[in-house]
Amino acid sequence: MSSSSDNPLIRFAAFWWALGVFSLFAVILIALKIFGGGAPENDPLEEAAATKRYETASKIHAAQEANFAFKEVEAGKVVQVPPHAAFDAVGKNLLGDKVAKVEADTQIHPDGDIAKAKAAEQGPDMGPIDALTPPADTPVDPALIEAGKAGFMVCMACHGANGEGGPVGPPLAGSEWVTGPVSNLIRIQLRGLNGPMHIKGQLYTPVAPMAPLSYQTDDQIAAVLTFVRNSFGNKAAPVLPKQVEMLRSEVGKPMLTEADLIKP
Ligand code: HEC
Repeated sequence: MSSSSDNPLIRFAAFWWALGVFSLFAVILIALKIFGGGAPENDPLEEAAATKRYETASKIHAAQEANFAFKEVEAGKVVQVPPHAAFDAVGKNLLGDKVAKVEADTQIHPDGDIAKAKAAEQGPDMGPIDALTPPADTPVDPALIEAGKAGFMVCMACHGANGEGGPVGPPLAGSEWVTGPVSNLIRIQLRGLNGPMHIKGQLYTPVAPMAPLSYQTDDQIAAVLTFVRNSFGNKAAPVLPKQVEMLRSEVGKPMLTEADLIKP
């Protein structure tokens, strides 16, 4: 008895079956290729990354080619540059290709550590804090003025009983800083103030800086500042404890200078 594989009829049928299945797959694959929607849209980020990879690879190739060159040591005698010299050169080339410094904020990942460090250094945005200041003609609660007057005992020693200034502190009476943006005043209380300062058209150079008075509560700072803004002939809107609270993160930072403040 012969086996089925010896039977020419069965072998003939198997051949055509196989060819048929193969062709069917080929047709399906071609159909998928044509009707399958084509290649995916080009991703600009992937494209930029590919460009960068290509540039880097080209640089390395160029460096390798230049350094694997053959050198003519004497007329007619050509030697190959030793491989270690080439690797040295390629290594130096890569080292020289240092990570670029961040130049624009758009290069910083908004949730990254660099962004966080930058934000901490810059402190809160003064705009929204100053925007909370009520209109200039807002009536001031007399109780708040009284509380502020008590708090002013501390300031008196340097700024004078009537805010006229003294040997140590500049005047608060008529100072454009006192009636200016409240964020300045709050930050001076929380961080202190140092260095020359323009006050009432004069350059004032302090004999000693004003140390931070951040031990005061939000209410106390709001009260004493509201008091100085509405005493000695000054007239300005009250300071809100909420505004002080929003600037508490300033505590512990280096003393301010005039340049750190918003020009009144
Ligand atoms: C130990 C002395 C001293 C005390 C106490 C003191 N200050 Fe000052 N203050 C100064 C000095 C000095 C400057 C100027 C610092 C500079 O220009 O670098 C100044 C500046 C200021 C300024 C800005 C400049 C101006 O004259 O407008 C304000 C506002 C201010 N102080 C408010 C206060 C308030 C409010 C208190 C009390 C809660 C107070 N200071 C307590 C010494 C003091």
